[in-house]
Formats: sequence, structure tokens, C-alpha cells
Amino acid sequence: MIELAFYYHDIQLISSVFMQLTGLFVNGIIRTVYYICPHLRLVIMFNLILFGPPGSGKGTQSEKLIARYGFKHLSTGDILRNEIRNGTRLGQEAKSLMDQGQLVPDAVVIGMIRSALEQNAGVNGFLFDGFPRTNAQAEALDELLAEKNTAISVVLALQVSKTELIKRLLNRGLTSGRTDDVNESVIGSRIEEYERKTAAVADHYKKLHKVVHIPGEGTVDEIFDHLTSEINKRQK
Ligand code: AP5
Repeated sequence: MIELAFYYHDIQLISSVFMQLTGLFVNGIIRTVYYICPHLRLVIMFNLILFGPPGSGKGTQSEKLIARYGFKHLSTGDILRNEIRNGTRLGQEAKSLMDQGQLVPDAVVIGMIRSALEQNAGVNGFLFDGFPRTNAQAEALDELLAEKNTAISVVLALQVSKTELIKRLLNRGLTSGRTDDVNESVIGSRIEEYERKTAAVADHYKKLHKVVHIPGEGTVDEIFDHLTSEINKRQK
């Protein structure tokens, strides 16, 4: 009986040493592969920018995309509205700019994204909605992702006419309670900010061959089908 107990103990010891050596071996291989080809890490995450003017459907489509793919949704507009609801200093400072349809300073939103990326290490990918909105934000995002050995996979840019944008936002303003939706002059300022500062972000990513234009008018499901077909092509 005692012999059997020793025998059992030996087997346990040998198998535990074996498992640890196997773990170290596999870990070593992965580390060596990453060392030789660091770009291989890029395939692990899929990072998407859903791009487009105010009212183009970024929020609507983001909800469906995160449900389908499990991306971590990072919407700077949602984060800022949350700060306003919580009455934080950042929220108070952002509110007056948002109510006028102006952009919040780059340093503020870049800081928000930096901490969101840190808090969400280990996700399978990020869906950026409403960020980046200036070239400075795009450059900062590229750097933050590079620090994590990852990058933007694709920028899906929703195309919607100005008349349709205004119609959608005024319509949402009837019920949403969003102070930036209630009058046409603030909506006009938001669209102007987009044209003056944000549209150029697409050029930044065009140089990297990452922009795909998606027709943003039609039913929500039709647009979603276009988006998923572009994502699926790149995830194969
Ligand atoms: P943010 O919250 O990002 O708002 P936005 O870009 O103005 O976009 P919206 O949320 O209004 O529109 P959306 O494209 O998401 O469309 P949605 O799906 O909601 O930003 C708000 C403010 O925060 C900015 O103005 C700025 O001040 C500040 N801010 C945020 N990020 C910043 C940053 N990075 N830097 C600096 N400042 C920043 O749809 C709109 C409506 O249309 C809905 O009612 C929806 O039901 C409807 N709809 C959607 N799809 C369709 C369809 N296919 N057909 C018909 N109706 C549709």
C-alpha cells in the first residue's frame, strides 16, 4: 500500500514537472516567434474605426457590430455624455462645447481613450465610434495602438447626404433629450466641424490603404450587411 502511495506521488510529480516544462516550452516558442516577427501580434486583434458625419449611423451600427463580433465599443461621445450625467469637472467643461456643436479639445479625448485602452487590455478588438475626429487624435491613436503591438485594421466610412443627416438628427431630437440635436443651427455647426476638422482623418488612413466607403442610406440591416461583408473579408 505504501509502495503504491509512493508510486502515485511520483507519477503526480513527474506529470506536474512535465506540464510545467511543456508550458515553458510553448511560452518560449510564442515569445521567440513574436521576437522574430512582431507583426504577427497584429492578427490577434481586429480594430475598427466606424467613421462618418454626425447622424450617419455610427452608434446604431456599432450596437449591432459589437453584438455580432464582441468588439469593445469605445464611443467618445458616450463617454463624454456619461461624464456630464455624473457631473464631473470634465463633463462640465465638455458640456458647453458639445451644446454648441464644437469639438472637445484633443488632449481631453486622447486622455479618455488612453485610459479606456489600458482598462480593456485583452479584448479581441476595439470599435472606435466618433474617434478619432482630428488628425492629432488619429496620430495619437496610432501611437497608443502601436505601444500595444496592434494597429487599426480598417476604417469603414459611412456616406450619407447632408439633407438626410439633418433630417435624422432633428427627428431624433424630438425624443432623445440630446441638447445638440434640438436645433438646426447646432446640427449645422456639428456638420461644419466634421467637414473642417474630421473629414481629413479619412485622408490620414487612406494613405495607409485602410479606408472603405460604405453607402450609409438605406435600411439599417442593408447597411449592416455591407459593414459585415467588409469585416468578414478581413477576418478570414
Ligand atoms: P457623438 O456622440 O460622437 O455624436 P456624433 O458624431 O455627432 O454622432 P451621432 O451620435 O449624432 O450620430 P451617429 O453617426 O452615431 O448616428 P446614430 O446611429 O446615432 O459626439 C457628440 C459630441 O461630443 C461632438 O459634437 C463633440 O462635441 C463631442 N465629441 C465626441 N467625440 C469627440 C472627439 N473624438 N473629439 C472631440 N469632441 C468629441 O443615428 C442618428 C439617428 O439616425 C438616430 O435617430 C438613428 O435611429 C437614425 N438612423 C440610423 N441609421 C439610420 C438609417 N439607416 N436610416 C434612417 N435613420 C437612421
